[in-house]
Amino acid sequence: MEERDTSETNGDGLKRTVFVTGATTGIGMMTARLFARHNYRLAVTGRIPKLDPLLRHPDLTSTEVLNVKLDLRSEGSIEDAFGTALDRFGTIDVLINNAGITLHKPIIDVTWSEWDDVLNTNLKGAYFLSAHFARENISRNRNGVIVNIASTHGLTGLAGRSVYGASKGGMIQMTRMMAMEWAAHKIRVNAIAPATVLTPSRQELLSDPDKREIMRQRIPLQDFITEEEVAAAAHYLASDAARSITGHTLPLDGGLLSQ
Ligand SMILES: NC(=O)c1ccc[n+]([C@@H]2O[C@H](COP(=O)([O-])OP(=O)(O)OC[C@H]3O[C@@H](n4cnc5c(N)ncnc54)[C@H](OP(=O)(O)O)[C@@H]3O)[C@@H](O)[C@H]2O)c1
Repeated sequence: MEERDTSETNGDGLKRTVFVTGATTGIGMMTARLFARHNYRLAVTGRIPKLDPLLRHPDLTSTEVLNVKLDLRSEGSIEDAFGTALDRFGTIDVLINNAGITLHKPIIDVTWSEWDDVLNTNLKGAYFLSAHFARENISRNRNGVIVNIASTHGLTGLAGRSVYGASKGGMIQMTRMMAMEWAAHKIRVNAIAPATVLTPSRQELLSDPDKREIMRQRIPLQDFITEEEVAAAAHYLASDAARSITGHTLPLDGGLLSQ
């Protein structure tokens, strides 16, 4: 078993607590596991009870874990989920806005409700959850860290990804705005912009080796980004080693954005 890090505590000498949205699978699940190995207490969310594979994972056996139901499209659900986590842990030190959905469609075919679904989940939900986090920490005079999982699609143009790209571009700008507004309260806000990660949601690539190979060749380093890399970047940005970093977006792009 991997060695556990017991050095990470908050200002009260207690284990830090991280709230990870969308931890049922993919990047969110890997991030929750990594923070657990670093001795954080976890509040992990899913819309329906699909968190069992994560909750049973050995990485989580020696930390406190709260499984909360959250639908980011609902104001009430955000309030309930964050309130439940606060009741349990007393304070949340780190928020990882990971949950998100994608849409692959030409602009002229996108419907009003598809736009709402993507923007409400990826941007509005993350915005208001972050506001809850900051309101709570500011009122208790506590510092905190937010890490937003954006995307390279928020930084470059690509046909068929307009709605998703708008949501992630919005998230990147939201990161700067929140970082400036909350800097005086020592709440740091950063984002990570991964290129393609072969999570279970990327079925179009997982099931088609030719398409996958074309995508891989487009990346200068010729390899996909891994869930572990995104989790490690989130952990770094949340740590005291990144205490002077706020308002930034860290691309994990294999060189894509430098072409
Ligand atoms: N995979 C990639 O190539 C890639 C690249 C760059 C950025 N990203 C971003 O990284 C994040 C995670 O990606 P992933 O590939 O790991 O995604 P994923 O496997 O599809 O998982 C998405 C997570 O978001 C949750 N979720 C979806 N809609 C929600 C809602 N309305 N309210 C609350 N939770 C909701 C899902 O929960 P349920 O299980 O309950 O549905 C799931 O846990 C996303 O924000 C994505 O945009 C991914």
